[in-house]
Amino acid sequence: MRPHRLRRMAGVEDFRRAARRRLPRLFADYIEGGASGEVTLAANTADFDRIALRPRVLRDVSARDLSADFLGAHHALPLMLGPVGSLGLFRAGAETAAFRAAAKAGVPACLSSFAVTRPEALMPVLGNCAAFQLYVLKDRGRTAAILDRVAAAGFGSLLVTVDTAVSGIRERDIRNGLRQLSRPDARMLADFATRPRWLADMARVHPVHMALAEDWPEAGRSYLAQAAFLAGQIDPTLDPAGLAWLRDRWKGRLVIKGVQTPEDALRCVDCGADGIVVSNHGGRQLDGVESSLRALGSVARSTAGRIELLFDGGIRRGGDIARALALGASACLLGRAYVWGAAAAGEAGVAAVLAALSAELDATLALLGLRSVAELRAAGPEVLRLPPGWD
Ligand SMILES: Cc1cc2nc3c(=O)[nH]c(=O)nc-3n(C[C@H](O)[C@H](O)[C@H](O)COP(=O)(O)O)c2cc1C
Repeated sequence: MRPHRLRRMAGVEDFRRAARRRLPRLFADYIEGGASGEVTLAANTADFDRIALRPRVLRDVSARDLSADFLGAHHALPLMLGPVGSLGLFRAGAETAAFRAAAKAGVPACLSSFAVTRPEALMPVLGNCAAFQLYVLKDRGRTAAILDRVAAAGFGSLLVTVDTAVSGIRERDIRNGLRQLSRPDARMLADFATRPRWLADMARVHPVHMALAEDWPEAGRSYLAQAAFLAGQIDPTLDPAGLAWLRDRWKGRLVIKGVQTPEDALRCVDCGADGIVVSNHGGRQLDGVESSLRALGSVARSTAGRIELLFDGGIRRGGDIARALALGASACLLGRAYVWGAAAAGEAGVAAVLAALSAELDATLALLGLRSVAELRAAGPEVLRLPPGWD
């Protein structure tokens, strides 16, 4: 994207539109879409707007500090790039570009198991702030080998995704024929033909492969075959005993991603996890569950500081981040927000998304009468007016 256009991008929504213009519809829909009727997807963003902010004035807010402590380190912002599989299909080199932007902005990032970039290649980009997202596989020997590989590469934190016992049913993807991508029909080819810049860009790196599949010759040779293989390996029997095995096996920081209820949060505490990500996978798994923001408050009350709470789902603005922190999160993971930045403009796009969210969070803090993220977290729900019936 040309610099003059980049300067006029006001926020995440502008990047969503730009990504849609650059990507084939099939991929734009894959990123934006959710499971089934997309009720939870819509609730994830709508519930932020249901919570009003309570500003306090006549306070000195001339000096402000957006830094935050989470995942055992001090970061420039209470933000992290969440794991997003197949990011490398939306733009050549998008994973490295995104991680580079995160490192420059002083925030951590998490590499997905479905990534095309080798974990070893990303460590020099991100340093010790890198996290790796794991699925526990049916074959524990294979899972242990992944753990050894990412530990040897230097990853300090593991995010274990537990809300994917089966894949969510995504109607947009069925209609667009996403599963038949390896044998595209005339409609799909026509879709690709309307996006020559994306085609030319991806031709430079074709064919891409899933990095973890390097160790699995039986997974097939194309990214799609390898991704389908990995999806079929995810263990639907995973239970607290499985988490205990993982806790024993992984010496770094262990965070469980995809927890939505106080009961499950307490089970994660009992398993010795260091943190959880309150998340419904961006509305992509079970449709009809409450928004991630609503789940956050009840999980925060029940765990009462016994475990670190990260949050994701629907973050599109700085004010959304402020609401999630006030409800108990120590930081927010970005999903689609940075994917749109990466797809539209690579590293510069992710940097612009982070800068826009940071500027908005800064303005929100100041206008709430707060000087820092630490003050916001200490004030908690005091800075919010929750709607009737919100518990
Ligand atoms: C295109 C796409 C791919 C994703 N891939 C993964 C993944 O590989 N592993 C995972 O744990 N979560 C994955 N997620 C979920 C995100 O990590 C995150 O939970 C979600 O996007 C947050 O919601 P938001 O996009 O509304 O911010 C993916 C999300 C998207 C949009």
